Amino acid sequence: MDKLRITGGRRLEGAVEISGAKNAALPIMCAALLSDEPLVLERVPRLMDVATMAKLLGRMGVEVDAGGNGVELRARRIADPTAPYDLVKTMRASVLVLGPLLARCGRAKVSLPGGCAIGARPVDQHVKGLQAMGAEITVDHGYMHAEAKRLRGARIVMDLVTVTGTENLMMAAALAEGTTVLENAAREPEVVDLARCLAAMGARIEGAGTDVIRIEGVGSLSGARHRVMPDRIETGTYLAAAAAAGGKVKATGAAPESLDATLEKLREAGAILRVSQDEIEIEAEGRPKPVNVRTAPYPGFATDMQAQFMALATIARGTALITETIFENRFMHALELQRLGANISIHGNSALVRGVERLQAATVMATDLRASASLVIAALVAEGTTQIERIYHLDRGYEAIEKKLSGLGARVERVK
Ligand code: UD1
Repeated sequence: MDKLRITGGRRLEGAVEISGAKNAALPIMCAALLSDEPLVLERVPRLMDVATMAKLLGRMGVEVDAGGNGVELRARRIADPTAPYDLVKTMRASVLVLGPLLARCGRAKVSLPGGCAIGARPVDQHVKGLQAMGAEITVDHGYMHAEAKRLRGARIVMDLVTVTGTENLMMAAALAEGTTVLENAAREPEVVDLARCLAAMGARIEGAGTDVIRIEGVGSLSGARHRVMPDRIETGTYLAAAAAAGGKVKATGAAPESLDATLEKLREAGAILRVSQDEIEIEAEGRPKPVNVRTAPYPGFATDMQAQFMALATIARGTALITETIFENRFMHALELQRLGANISIHGNSALVRGVERLQAATVMATDLRASASLVIAALVAEGTTQIERIYHLDRGYEAIEKKLSGLGARVERVK
């Protein structure tokens, strides 16, 4: 298993090109199931999760042609509308095939995702919504078996804000008979990007980006070409790294408008930010000021940025309170950060982080994707060489991370 060795203490300087968003690319790839014509995607990040999704779609009979930063998908016919356990367990986003398969084939068999490292994460809202649209769903031997001759539009009030739930239902509704209204929908930019792609395929969707989305079902969807939005979490991660390590970093090809909450917190931490249409430059010196964060659905502070801000807080000039409201078990990085000398105490869903003057290198273990990113940030400021194990988590979500960090002057090495 690959490891990452990072020698801390260097300032970060230079530019980093932002990749396409993983969390936009994955649902958009599933949208290919809704049409028998080709869906051509640009700026698809080269990531493990994208390869897993391509494999899953390929097994169903989708033709997948990947080259450079583009992927062409064509679901001429779907041989087997099944998402097997071995793939769903490695990537929860696999559950995003459920809505499209049901809409296109009238049936689907999708493994239940089960628990994952950051909490229980059920899919009851996906199921409830599809049932409201007329689907019959039973669970048997760990699989959801869904059937519907043709889905019907419905008014669905979601009990809580769920990103993939909103996306699954939006895709299903695109081919349903009649109008679907999703209330309490997720407002995340990735939902908007999916809606843009669906619209290019001929779907009729209004309100994406607000909490009420209206979808008028159509009889069929066509092929389209779509450029995936820039990854706001990758962007935020490099900016947080610069805020921690100090220096001057410019994120290029970014989408600043999707990062308001993160940028605000970086300013609070004392960084100077210069924002243009698709670039964000950060300049930071010395130890950051402590900033409290509380995760919330978009446009609130993203749970996917919580771990990186905890790393930043470990070396702040004071105490920060970090509260996680989305997932119940998302502080595993705290224990690893403590191995690097951080002073963190956990109280329920809050972590009190008392900033220390310096961290010291150690061997640490990556436990999930964003937890790994926080360890990278901590390693960049720690004295000595930190070894991060199990970096396959990082490879799931950060394209060419060691190359991008080296490009900024960090001392990073991948050990096979
Ligand atoms: C997506 C993102 C993930 C991010 C998360 C929260 C993708 C591929 N993943 O994950 O990176 O951390 O949004 O912004 O885009 N819930 C239910 N029932 C459901 C669905 C969700 O109770 O049917 C709960 C979950 O347990 C969680 C909360 O709702 O507490 C948010 O989940 P959701 O937004 O669905 O997260 P994901 O879509 O899994």
